[in-house]
Amino acid sequence: VRTAAVIPAAGRGVRLGPGAPKALRALNGTPMLIHAVRALAASRAVSLVVVVAPPDGAAEVKSLLDAHSLPERTDFLVVPGGESRQESVRLGLGALPPGYDIVLVHDAARPLVPVETVDAVIEAVRDGAPAVVPALPLADTVKEVEPARVPGEPEPVLATPERARLRAVQTPQGFDRATLLRAHETVTDNVTDDASMVEQLGERVVVVPGHEEAFKVTRPLDLVLAEAVLARRRL
Ligand code: CTP
Ligand code: MG
Repeated sequence: VRTAAVIPAAGRGVRLGPGAPKALRALNGTPMLIHAVRALAASRAVSLVVVVAPPDGAAEVKSLLDAHSLPERTDFLVVPGGESRQESVRLGLGALPPGYDIVLVHDAARPLVPVETVDAVIEAVRDGAPAVVPALPLADTVKEVEPARVPGEPEPVLATPERARLRAVQTPQGFDRATLLRAHETVTDNVTDDASMVEQLGERVVVVPGHEEAFKVTRPLDLVLAEAVLARRRL
């Protein structure tokens, strides 16, 4: 069974602050996107990587892929992305040639995911799960609130879900291709991950252990952590 990875990299990175689109920012001298592509292509099971570039940045992403060393056994495609993550993933799926029965969706903003996590997700899909997400237990207690209408106002707490039953989900999320395509054709609500669309179809979604280094680079402090992790790996 052949496996393809779709990497949404079309976001601007508003929470990271002003600058280039987030996926094109450098971590220890190499664009975040290149780290993410290498992390997925490091899996011997992944034979195609589809990068979803910023809408006006497909040519730039193509030349970045050409300029960096990547495994020879992997094919690469670049397509322009859309307004939302969901739309970007849909555009990436639209570029998938036939013959890939397992599809991973991986945020460019998680450049340091270890190959062991990628392989564990693929393995669980191969074992028959239509949708697989890597996830970790939470360190913080989480509260559901009534969001303030004015930012900074105190927010009433509505509930405290039992922390031990919660998981913070990461990527790559892995899918049976037909299930993921059906989810993207059917679900139109705004969602923040692909697995939740499969949940809405009523299909089974399972969690496998994630990894601390698969954290998402979202805010400026995350850049400090990512570069420290790379330095520790001597990359
Ligand atoms: N993404 C995308 N297309 C969009 C929005 C997001 O491909 N229109 C991608 C991002 O490039 C990122 C992943 O989805 O790899 C996760 O999104 P997030 O971390 O929220 O990145 P941004 O949307 O770029 O950041 P922000 O929300 O702070 O603007
Ligand atoms: Mg975003």
